[in-house]
Amino acid sequence: MKITRLRLGRDKNAAAALMAASDPWRKLGLRKEHCAKTFSVPFRETWAAREGKAIAGFVVITMYGTFRGYIQVLFVAPGFRSAGLGEALMRFAEAKIFARTPNVFLCVSSFNKGASRFYRRLGYRKAGLLKDFLIKGSDEMLLRKTKGPLRDFTAARPKGKTNGKR
Ligand SMILES: CC(C)(COP(=O)(O)OP(=O)(O)OC[C@H]1O[C@@H](n2cnc3c(N)ncnc32)[C@H](O)[C@@H]1OP(=O)(O)O)[C@@H](O)C(=O)NCCC(=O)NCCS
Repeated sequence: MKITRLRLGRDKNAAAALMAASDPWRKLGLRKEHCAKTFSVPFRETWAAREGKAIAGFVVITMYGTFRGYIQVLFVAPGFRSAGLGEALMRFAEAKIFARTPNVFLCVSSFNKGASRFYRRLGYRKAGLLKDFLIKGSDEMLLRKTKGPLRDFTAARPKGKTNGKR
């Protein structure tokens, strides 16, 4: 499935409705209006896989701030799960992030055991614990996958640019 940038308001509306109908957001009590805010924050990119016009899954990436390379949301629609799409979206996001920074960050709710196992399998490790972060009684685990320290990292050169040497 091809992964393309999600830009249109109606697509973002459909994506917010999908999130609100699914755990962990449903369990966290986040309604469609809350979920819709995810897409309107500056410095975030949403990338989606579609089947026809329907959104099969999407990933929202933040490329700004201390936790530059933060995966804000990963979602695969129920009918498309356990077929490798979640992993494909993660690999896509990682390729974009690792071209610019050596860390990928994300949070997973303590009750979301399936997603925690999924991230562990992809190489993510616990970097911190945010107690009662979104709702009381549920913690958010901060996970990180790293290529190494920031100081040793060289970002990939944007396509089409040279360093002036031939
Ligand atoms: C977590 C989530 C994104 C995973 O997406 P997915 O498309 O189901 O992920 P994959 O198919 O790549 O992998 C999921 C499982 O399917 C298995 N799988 C992968 N390809 C498969 C295939 N072709 N056939 C059968 N099983 C397969 C994997 O082994 C994996 O097993 P695991 O649960 O032990 O890790 C998805 O379940 C989801 O959107 N959940 C709700 C939202 C959510 O929790 N998001 C994360 C918030 S932090």
